[in-house]
Amino acid sequence: MNKGNAESNKLSQLRPCKHQVAGHLFEEGKAGSLVDDSGHFYKPLQGGPRGRREHEFYEAIRLEREACAERCKASGVLSSSRHVLIRKKLLGGCTGSDYDDQSKCEQACSSSGRSTADEERSWHSVPFCIRNAVLLSVIPEYYGVLKAGGRMLVELEDVAQHYRRPSIIDIKVGYQTWYPNADPSYIQRCQIKDEQTTQASFGFKICGMQVYRACQRGYWRASKRWCKALQPEAVNKALLRFANNEAGLRPVDVYGGPNGAFPQLQQLAAWFQLQCDFQFYSSSVLIIYEGDATSAEDANVSIRLVDFAHTFPSQGQKDFNFLRGLLALSATLSNVLCLDYHDCLF
Ligand SMILES: Nc1ncnc2c1ncn2[C@@H]1O[C@H](COP(=O)(O)OP(=O)(O)OP(=O)(O)O)[C@@H](O)[C@H]1O
Ligand SMILES: [Mg+2]
Repeated sequence: MNKGNAESNKLSQLRPCKHQVAGHLFEEGKAGSLVDDSGHFYKPLQGGPRGRREHEFYEAIRLEREACAERCKASGVLSSSRHVLIRKKLLGGCTGSDYDDQSKCEQACSSSGRSTADEERSWHSVPFCIRNAVLLSVIPEYYGVLKAGGRMLVELEDVAQHYRRPSIIDIKVGYQTWYPNADPSYIQRCQIKDEQTTQASFGFKICGMQVYRACQRGYWRASKRWCKALQPEAVNKALLRFANNEAGLRPVDVYGGPNGAFPQLQQLAAWFQLQCDFQFYSSSVLIIYEGDATSAEDANVSIRLVDFAHTFPSQGQKDFNFLRGLLALSATLSNVLCLDYHDCLF
């Protein structure tokens, strides 16, 4: 089969993604995302710089991965003892602390006494795939782009593919969704949205969710309007609702425990404390679990990072906006663990 035929064959097998919980949706008359039977997810790239940036982000990761694989082949895989040394060197002095505000956060991240330039040199002295192993484990696999009519689709791993009944929540992280050198009118629009939602005050916003309800044998889906109208005092309840599948799972099974969302977010935050490769604006953390699970072991909770339309290479700066949002989200989840989940009825 030639390349053109293979592509049109592939395109004919795509169908709308049933489990997309936020973003551009077919049901709202927009070009939504698609999936196929091979476990791939196809996101239409937006026109202009947004689509270009997301494509460039995935391409940059692909090139770095290839370069790392080549280097490993040439020099033998890094030994695990060297790996441990590298981790120690990177983590030196950078432990959890009080991250209420930006300056405390910056202080805590550089409490090693080293200058920012030293830290950056140290970070970049480690091969990309090793220093960014945590990032690589949470972003979807990338398989390239596909042309569909006049649109470009970015072909990714479908992160919900291994779940029978995926319960998914999309949480946009960061106290601001705008980046400093954006168009002033774009900044103003974002600032208004951030102030009107929990983004600016909490450092995160629930953009969408679907929860499998075992009793109903179906999903409860939060509409965009429901998410927009969510008041700060209702956020805990919304998070409790997400963790309640009516089949016996408790918030502690989804958020706590050794395999819950909380320790996974902590690991991602530890990477953010060190990394100076990227700045992420408007990206989302997805939390996914098995909706019909009856125990923490079956819940198979995973966190993923998506949406890189506003991701930029960093000029050696740490991404405190995203890091602080992530820590605020972790703190909220750990509070939610202690609440009475029977409170939250549908
Ligand atoms: N790789 C993936 N696998 C499965 N579902 C995904 C994946 N990436 C995103 N999704 C689903 O699609 C939703 C929207 O994703 P995303 O934010 O990337 O797109 P978007 O908001 O439509 O695009 P943009 O914000 O760039 O305009 C997510 O909330 C999630 O439900
Ligand atoms: Mg989005």
